[in-house]
Amino acid sequence: MAPRSHIFHLLIIIVLVYSMISPCCSLEDEVQPNINDIHLFSDPDRETGFDSRAYPSPFLSSDGVSSDMAEVIEGGISSYLEKLAAESAAKIVSVKSYGAKGDGESDDTKAFKKAWDEACSSGAVFEVPENKKYLVKQIRFEGPCKSAMAVQIYGTILASDDRGDYKKDKRHWLIFDSVDDLVVEGGGVVDGNGKIWWKNSCKVHKSKPCKEAPTALTFYNMKNLTVKDLNIQNAQQIQVSFEKCEKVEASNLTVTAPGDSPNTDGVHITRTQNMQLSSSVIQTGDDCISIESGTQKLKITDITCGPGHGISIGSLGDGNSEAHVSDVVVDGAKISGTSNGVRIKTYQGGSGNASNIKFENIEMEDVKYPIIIDQNYCDKSKPCKKQKSAVLVKNVVYQNITGTSATDVAIKFDCSESHPCEGIVLRDVRLRLEKDEVAQALCNNVELQQIGTVSPSCPDIQDL
Ligand SMILES: *[C@@H]1O[C@H](CO)[C@@H](O)[C@H](O)[C@H]1NC(C)=O
Ligand SMILES: *[C@@H]1O[C@H](CO)[C@@H](O)[C@H](O)[C@H]1NC(C)=O
Ligand SMILES: *[C@@H]1O[C@H](CO)[C@@H](O)[C@H](O)[C@H]1NC(C)=O
Ligand SMILES: *[C@@H]1O[C@H](CO)[C@@H](O)[C@H](O)[C@H]1NC(C)=O
Repeated sequence: MAPRSHIFHLLIIIVLVYSMISPCCSLEDEVQPNINDIHLFSDPDRETGFDSRAYPSPFLSSDGVSSDMAEVIEGGISSYLEKLAAESAAKIVSVKSYGAKGDGESDDTKAFKKAWDEACSSGAVFEVPENKKYLVKQIRFEGPCKSAMAVQIYGTILASDDRGDYKKDKRHWLIFDSVDDLVVEGGGVVDGNGKIWWKNSCKVHKSKPCKEAPTALTFYNMKNLTVKDLNIQNAQQIQVSFEKCEKVEASNLTVTAPGDSPNTDGVHITRTQNMQLSSSVIQTGDDCISIESGTQKLKITDITCGPGHGISIGSLGDGNSEAHVSDVVVDGAKISGTSNGVRIKTYQGGSGNASNIKFENIEMEDVKYPIIIDQNYCDKSKPCKKQKSAVLVKNVVYQNITGTSATDVAIKFDCSESHPCEGIVLRDVRLRLEKDEVAQALCNNVELQQIGTVSPSCPDIQDL
């Protein structure tokens, strides 16, 4: 930071403090109104002609000017200057200082964009203040940025629910695009405000045409990304999506939407390598986690899922496409009240493979199909035709999976006739019905090993 802006701060502080303690006014009576007046300085362009964008300053551009001033009065100038020095080490660009109102009604899109441009080009921290609700339309937070970036979301970012605002790009609301070394955190809320989309979904009203709806939060083409301590809710469609990312750590996410909200996948992962997702709670209307083609080296730990459709790999091979998913581990999950537990689903007619997958240490409660591989998946209005080729499913281990199934079928392997599932292992799997009744396993075209206690077990399979 330029020394002269420090001097400038000091001058303002001295003038303000002096005017407060000067004999003309009683401090007790006047502190409040004075502090409110001081707030005007947060728009320095108007008040002083000082260009805060040319001389970024945590004092002038910070939204907390009035509380800062209170601190100055209480704590003295020297401690304030210490704080100032600490802040200028990591400059903070708050959306508030770029005009965002945060009243939940005014359109704060422009302020967010301006603040992002400033933060990205200067390597500052992009901040969304707490206790405010910022209504925004579509925003693309685009990189590359000057240096590693931090985005701190303390308050709420609320999506516009005017569907006309999504004409330019029907698939995204907030998107981070090509920003390397980004950390997104803060404990705040990203709210897709999705009701209007759900109401008009063809999944809810069969008579309505099926239309695309935006993903609330997308990370696209990011390298070395950390996303933690965030609440993502009520997405228009997918809640949070990682696409074409490399080296991702996502943790302590709370992802929620009503159980009957259509297509609201919780965490969607596609074309992404080296990702860890941990310690997260996902309650939503579609898959808690959906893992799509191009995903390699994904580790998922400590997940609470339900309501929702469970943890899904696929659907893969749609429209005769080639799909590859490998080295996926789900270790530690509690899945309850969902339509599936851990699922691999592929369309007939695809190619490629889903391989080296391990599901372990998972507790199921009241799950319709706790363990399922469906190589004849079909989610089309017309039934899918029988086709020869298939995405291969091989080397899938299910270990230490216990709990209850809501249907008779606790384990379902419905593999392709022409390309049976290979190298499937059930080890220490104990699933039962609610009232301690014995569940069933349906096993078609599967090459399977069963180790330890496996219940229910596939008929006609030799136990090892
Ligand atoms: C990854 O990002 C973090 C935080 O932004 C940064 O501290 C770290 O140096 C980056 N790692 C690499 C290998 O670039
Ligand atoms: C997880 O995030 C929430 C905010 O969403 C925060 O209050 C909490 O402290 C975080 N937990 C951990 C262990 O960091
Ligand atoms: C995946 O499938 C393709 C054929 O569709 C094959 O060429 C490739 O070797 C397979 N990869 C692995 C890791 O099994
Ligand atoms: C089995 O998984 C449960 C969690 O569902 C875990 O508490 C337990 O320690 C695991 N048992 C073994 C032997 O790893």
